[in-house]
Amino acid sequence: MSRQYWKPANLLNPVPAVMISCSDNNGRNNVMTAAWCGTVCSDPVMVSVSIRKSRYSHELISASGEFVVNLVSRDLVKACDFVGVKSGRKIDKFGLKGDIHLTAVPSKEVGAPSIAESPISLECKVRQALELGSHDMFIGEVVATSVDEEVLDENGRLDLKKADLIAYSHGEYFALGDLLGKFSFSTHKDERLKTRQAMNREKRSGKPKPGKEEKNDER
Ligand SMILES: Cc1cc2nc3c(=O)[nH]c(=O)nc-3n(C[C@H](O)[C@H](O)[C@H](O)COP(=O)(O)O)c2cc1C
Repeated sequence: MSRQYWKPANLLNPVPAVMISCSDNNGRNNVMTAAWCGTVCSDPVMVSVSIRKSRYSHELISASGEFVVNLVSRDLVKACDFVGVKSGRKIDKFGLKGDIHLTAVPSKEVGAPSIAESPISLECKVRQALELGSHDMFIGEVVATSVDEEVLDENGRLDLKKADLIAYSHGEYFALGDLLGKFSFSTHKDERLKTRQAMNREKRSGKPKPGKEEKNDER
């Protein structure tokens, strides 16, 4: 196997593509797409989003100290792309029509709106802003989370598979693919993984195949 060395490039893939909503807290709301967004702390729960100074959203978030991270499902991918190529300086991105319409709804803890169509919205208060170069990184503490009840199971627990979230990789949007294992599956007996593979096979064929693997899943 031979490998090449390249100059530094943004090749960490895949990443989430999310919609960041914000407000001037004076009735003017905006939303932009961000792929440079990530989880950076578990306790307190914190996320980061890196935004170029030229973005209208940068201006609003810098002034208000608040933003909302709205996760993107398959149904929202076109709107997500659109709000990532048009600036709120020129258009009202919450006034769009048809399949790219997004509804701004009041958030619980921040002045920035949440997006009603998004399965999960993370309301954030900016704790730090770092000037990195091309982008400034806003580190936000998640102060409230709203979840669409459609993505809960019958016991009220989050079933994120129902959200049908998308990923972004090297300039392209993707639906999530096959389940390959669960957290820590590598430390379990092989049957655990086989069971997951069997479930995926079933999903693809649409038919359950009862057998040893399914019995193991009942444990
Ligand atoms: C998939 C995708 C990912 C993007 N990621 C970022 C990002 O992480 N940071 C950023 O500053 N701009 C990003 N952009 C570009 C902004 O979303 C875009 O410039 C937008 O029009 C800014 O809107 P605003 O001027 O209303 O704030 C991305 C665009 C797309 C389509």
